[in-house]
Amino acid sequence: MASLSGKAGLIVGVANKRSIAWAVAQAASAAGARLALTYQGERLEENVRELSAGLTDPLVLPLDVTDDAQIARVFDELDRSFGGLDFVVHGAAYAGREELANPFVQTTRDGFRMALDVSAYSLIALSRGALPLMEKRGGGSILTFSYLGSERVFPNYNVMGVAKAALEATVRYLAADLGPKNIRVNAISAGPIKTLAASGIGGFSTILQVYRERAPLRRTVDTSEVAEAAMFLLTDAGRAVTAEVLMVDGGFHGTGM
Ligand SMILES: NC(=O)c1ccc[n+]([C@@H]2O[C@H](COP(=O)([O-])OP(=O)(O)OC[C@H]3O[C@@H](n4cnc5c(N)ncnc54)[C@H](O)[C@@H]3O)[C@@H](O)[C@H]2O)c1
Repeated sequence: MASLSGKAGLIVGVANKRSIAWAVAQAASAAGARLALTYQGERLEENVRELSAGLTDPLVLPLDVTDDAQIARVFDELDRSFGGLDFVVHGAAYAGREELANPFVQTTRDGFRMALDVSAYSLIALSRGALPLMEKRGGGSILTFSYLGSERVFPNYNVMGVAKAALEATVRYLAADLGPKNIRVNAISAGPIKTLAASGIGGFSTILQVYRERAPLRRTVDTSEVAEAAMFLLTDAGRAVTAEVLMVDGGFHGTGM
């Protein structure tokens, strides 16, 4: 696997050991990167501190991605501690429980605003914060996570599907904007995985079962497989790849029925 030795990265979106962002953190650390992990609120601080205790010299910082002052503090701290930044892993997403259960037509203005703010706008805000630090390193790689619900309808995915469509478009616009600075921006569209975020989606186990039956590989994927694909995009192995949404879903996206 290509190396991240001497590189520094920011990992946003670790809630617990099942988080996709945690699998990426482990892979990036094993590839030699120094990491900063963030936690959203005191509720998750202990989890993230316990997990990151196994990493080499990690930074652990609070970050709610809807809070511009906290975002600014994170990048100030990264500049002080790392003197630059090589990659950002954006694994934050949120939609209110009712938005993931009620009929889509009942989506509220507040629910829509919150889902799009946390799950899509935050990628712009984090990229803007990372920009001067990545310029110091002559470039960088920014990675986020999407789902096929951005293009097709899945039961109860609702406003999160709209947020993922916005997120994927955001990836392309950021890639165009930041490409001349040698900053790449990509997404991995992962197959369904039982995580904390997924537990909020009604009927999620049915979605898992459909993938097992119909995906070309006849199975679901796990977070370590997503993390290995992430390593391709974060390291020099993916140095010519940007504005991409890489499907890591056992091929399910290719099936008609
Ligand atoms: N699990 C799946 O089936 C699946 C499939 C495709 C894509 N994804 C995406 O992968 C990413 C990671 O999700 P996951 O499945 O690992 O679940 P997860 O619950 O482990 O991670 C989601 C993270 O978002 C964070 N978050 C929510 N609101 C935030 C805020 N305001 N500020 C900062 N952080 C906030 C949570 O703290 C949590 O760490 C998400 O974008 C999710 O949509 C998940």
